[in-house]
Amino acid sequence: MADNILSIETVALDDGKNALKIIDQTRLPGTVKILSLTRQKDIWNAIYLLQVRGAPAIGVAAAIGVYLAARDIKAANYDAFYAKFKKAKEYLASSRPTAVNLFWALDRMEKVVLDNKGEPPAKLVALLHDEAVAIRDEDIWVCRSIGEYGLTLIKNGDGILTHCNAGQLATVKYGTALAPIHLGREKGLNFKVFTDETRPLLQGARLSAFEMVSAGVDTTVICDNMASQVMKNKWVKACFVGCDRVAANGDAANKIGTSGVAILAKHYGIPFYVCAPTSTIDLTIKKGSDIVIEERKAEEVTEMWYRERMAPAGVKVFNPAFDVTDNELITGIITEYGIARPPYAQSIRKIFEEKKKQSGSKK
Ligand code: MRU
Repeated sequence: MADNILSIETVALDDGKNALKIIDQTRLPGTVKILSLTRQKDIWNAIYLLQVRGAPAIGVAAAIGVYLAARDIKAANYDAFYAKFKKAKEYLASSRPTAVNLFWALDRMEKVVLDNKGEPPAKLVALLHDEAVAIRDEDIWVCRSIGEYGLTLIKNGDGILTHCNAGQLATVKYGTALAPIHLGREKGLNFKVFTDETRPLLQGARLSAFEMVSAGVDTTVICDNMASQVMKNKWVKACFVGCDRVAANGDAANKIGTSGVAILAKHYGIPFYVCAPTSTIDLTIKKGSDIVIEERKAEEVTEMWYRERMAPAGVKVFNPAFDVTDNELITGIITEYGIARPPYAQSIRKIFEEKKKQSGSKK
């Protein structure tokens, strides 16, 4: 077992080697392997193959990735630099479609270039470096703040059910849905965490379980189809999940299977919380059905975790990576600026007003 997960860096910029440093999440929990990536193709692949995954971590990786691309741009003037930068940005943006943090971070990087029109390439590269570092550093306080708000909703000894991995591995530190658990541990609180295995890529069984056990948390892995029984047994006081994109009306896209958990929670009268940095809220999307849902390769379902192919050759496979939880199933959306409650159209707007008010004061 690794050192406490909180001491490991999930995603970072290695300035010495000019490389993106990540834990290879496809090797967990068996092997803790740190990758040092310098080539754009390798960074694109790392995001596509889920070596780095989870909405905030993808955003940070892309910001660092596009900074590294900018370093390599040979351009005599601003316009030539911007044209090449734009291409590099679009390339990384094509790696995955659903998590808005990817586009949010890349847009933020592009804004640095646009706001400094006419500046020489060397200066732009230096500014892009600082922005990538800022995006990474901000993720730490954002997740800590989500954790603090989340902690106000639970008490020592509670059973918490989570789906997929929205923990430290999915962010720079603490995670979103697992941040209350990590912060609770720091304060001497103990929770009983149930991690859905999360078919087909097992982010719950492999990653959340690894993360929780390594942090010394009482952790039980359940198959996705066991959540109902565990709730019926009254072992779950609250559900905490992450998300990849929240629409303006509060509908939230997260790992496939999340909406089923929300439906079960409603049936059993258990609060269901979505943990979302404001960078995951996309006000340009009105409702969940407008969110693009990634579909992935059939082999992830039929072969990936089996010694030999499990489903018959030629069978059709539907493999969406995410689903949308309707806002009426969500008890609260926990952001770094507070907890939004229904009706979400209003409460999310208030969260952004608060963000505007505080912007600049929390860095
Ligand atoms: O396909 P993944 O593993 O990137 O999916 C991740 C999730 O669905 C997470 O719950 C989400 O990105 C939030 S991470 C804080």
